[in-house]
Amino acid sequence: MGEIISFSSGKGGVGKTFCSINTACELASKGYKVLIFDIDINCSNVFIMLHVKPGNKLQEYFEGSTQLEACIVKSNYNVDVISAGVNIARFIQFENDYNLTRLSEDLIELKEKYDYIIIDHPAGISQIMMKFYTLSDSIILVANPEVTALTDLYRLMKMLYVGEKIDKIYLIINKVKNIDWAINLYKEIVRIAKSFSLPVNIKLLGPILSDEEKVISSVQKRTPFIHLYPKTSIKGGFSLIVTRYLHEKGTTAQNNDSTDKTFSNFF
Ligand SMILES: Nc1ncnc2c1ncn2[C@@H]1O[C@H](COP(=O)(O)OP(=O)(O)OP(=O)(O)O)[C@@H](O)[C@H]1O
Ligand SMILES: [Mg+2]
Repeated sequence: MGEIISFSSGKGGVGKTFCSINTACELASKGYKVLIFDIDINCSNVFIMLHVKPGNKLQEYFEGSTQLEACIVKSNYNVDVISAGVNIARFIQFENDYNLTRLSEDLIELKEKYDYIIIDHPAGISQIMMKFYTLSDSIILVANPEVTALTDLYRLMKMLYVGEKIDKIYLIINKVKNIDWAINLYKEIVRIAKSFSLPVNIKLLGPILSDEEKVISSVQKRTPFIHLYPKTSIKGGFSLIVTRYLHEKGTTAQNNDSTDKTFSNFF
């Protein structure tokens, strides 16, 4: 039985899609069976970065003419994809929509077939997306050092911890200049959250350094960063994130290097 992991942030543009794709590829490279579900109904782009054709299967699924499994597309990176594609926003407009309930149930069923189902969330904090948080086994929040990104992060944490009583929450700090900066930011996030009386139990999985040039090049080449640049600190960061995540969950990686769990070993 697999796990569902939601990647979310509140604010847009912090690197949810970048982090979910590369974490998915890292898990796949360790031998796990991984599906990435791009539920960004307004601006879905996982299919671009994994170089697959989205098709309009999810629309057919919502119209009732096909099953969710038929919407799965295989990428060249051992990661399967379901893409929201375009034109599906009208099918899930309300938090109690029949379509949303059906989609949640079918996603849970797919846990029989995959070790990890990664949901790449859209920007924003909405009740519709609450459904996906509550069905997730873990939530990985992606933050970066911008003040607005942090403000939205607190709002989302409040909704998850207090509103929904969800506490399997992890953190990736993306686009940082160096590791110390990320660790200080993590301490600051925990300090401020506690000062708002949030019952924070968030664990830092790792920092991901900023490297605009290489990230842009990986998007242009439609090749996941960790495959295009396997000898970089960013690739090391994703190895660390996956190793720490598996360790936190008490899972031993399948073909793995789980001895290295500290940040410094990777940079
Ligand atoms: N570590 C990084 N270094 C440099 N650029 C990055 C890094 N991570 C992401 N980016 C760039 O930041 C931009 C936003 O990334 P991405 O699309 O993954 O964010 P997102 O949170 O999924 O956005 P949205 O909320 O619109 O879905 C992209 O141009 C991406 O290439
Ligand atoms: Mg995105």
